[in-house]
Amino acid sequence: MKTILALETSCDETAVAILRDHELLVSEVASQVAEHEKYGGVVPEVASRNHLVHGPRLLERVSREAKIDLAQIDAFAATSGPGLASSLMIGASIAKGLAIGFDKPYLAINHLEGHLLSPFFGETKIWPNLSLVVSGGHTMTVLVRDVGDYRIIGRTVDDAAGEAFDKIAKLLGLGYPGGPDIEKRAINGDPARFDLPRSMPDSENFSFSGLKTAVRYLLPKIAGRFGETPEQEHRLTQTACKLSGTDLADVCASVQAAIVDVLMSKTIGATKKHGMNLVTISGGVSCNKQLRVRMEDACKHHGFEFKIADPWLCTDNAAMIAFAAMLKLQNGFKSSVTQEIDPNLALAV
Ligand code: KG4
Ligand code: ZN
Repeated sequence: MKTILALETSCDETAVAILRDHELLVSEVASQVAEHEKYGGVVPEVASRNHLVHGPRLLERVSREAKIDLAQIDAFAATSGPGLASSLMIGASIAKGLAIGFDKPYLAINHLEGHLLSPFFGETKIWPNLSLVVSGGHTMTVLVRDVGDYRIIGRTVDDAAGEAFDKIAKLLGLGYPGGPDIEKRAINGDPARFDLPRSMPDSENFSFSGLKTAVRYLLPKIAGRFGETPEQEHRLTQTACKLSGTDLADVCASVQAAIVDVLMSKTIGATKKHGMNLVTISGGVSCNKQLRVRMEDACKHHGFEFKIADPWLCTDNAAMIAFAAMLKLQNGFKSSVTQEIDPNLALAV
């Protein structure tokens, strides 16, 4: 029996979890959304200061809740990239310090691998699958043969899908993060009212910046704001355009439909092309109900199995890092405490 404690501090959530074999004993996330919301995005300096405050408190809390002394932990894991350097180094330093202090192994875990494996959370092994990892920083399809055996099939050439949700929400004067807010407002909207671009239909890669630009130019027109000169017209696109009622709902529904269509068609296309019969999706955007339901329907239609984690496991958390660490520890993986964090850590070449 092995007990792993993991920390996740790649961006603005401070998270700590303890996993005993495949049973989750505790998972805590201290969200910093309120601190960053006023800036419309994550401020690295604010994030790292908060990790320093929340990290030790969460350690104390998880140890109390799981009724486990830190000396009883068999291995300490932390996210070592990709992410914000000043955030990553806090969680990794805490885990390394604990590993050195208690003379236990340290495991450096790739954040994307944490997301990618999360649909199998609680299981003892994973199955080959075509995985869509879709978060605020990443959008990629990955051919997964086994733990550690990954081949990237498609990736975004500009913005990630979550980033598109967040940037478009900002244009609409909505809150941060934008995905949940757009989803909520899309519920009563007409997804067919605005014909928004589905970029790069013939490529395995993704592109979402054209969608953001299309929305930027659409909003002043819906609001009935027209500039007299090209300069005035351009200026109108640079400020948030607060719509309301049906207009807001229809824009949100049309944006959500455009993003979900692209994610679905490329994932299903890659699954067919690479001869897989299991589709998994993970990352913050996979909390989106339209994406969950429509991907499940499409998989049924094509005869593929479909696996997705519960929403709490889709946004950033330490339980997924502990789970990835457990699967890797089983395979004999350990890291050196001298291993540096890597803000640009790749999932595979
Ligand atoms: O995985 P995650 O928590 O952090 C990263 O690793 O980036 O993902 C955060 C992203 C944000 O862009 C957020 O807007 C998006 O996930 N997101 C959603 C939803 N919930 C979170 N996007 C669409 N619909 C949602 N319900
Ligand atoms: Zn993430």
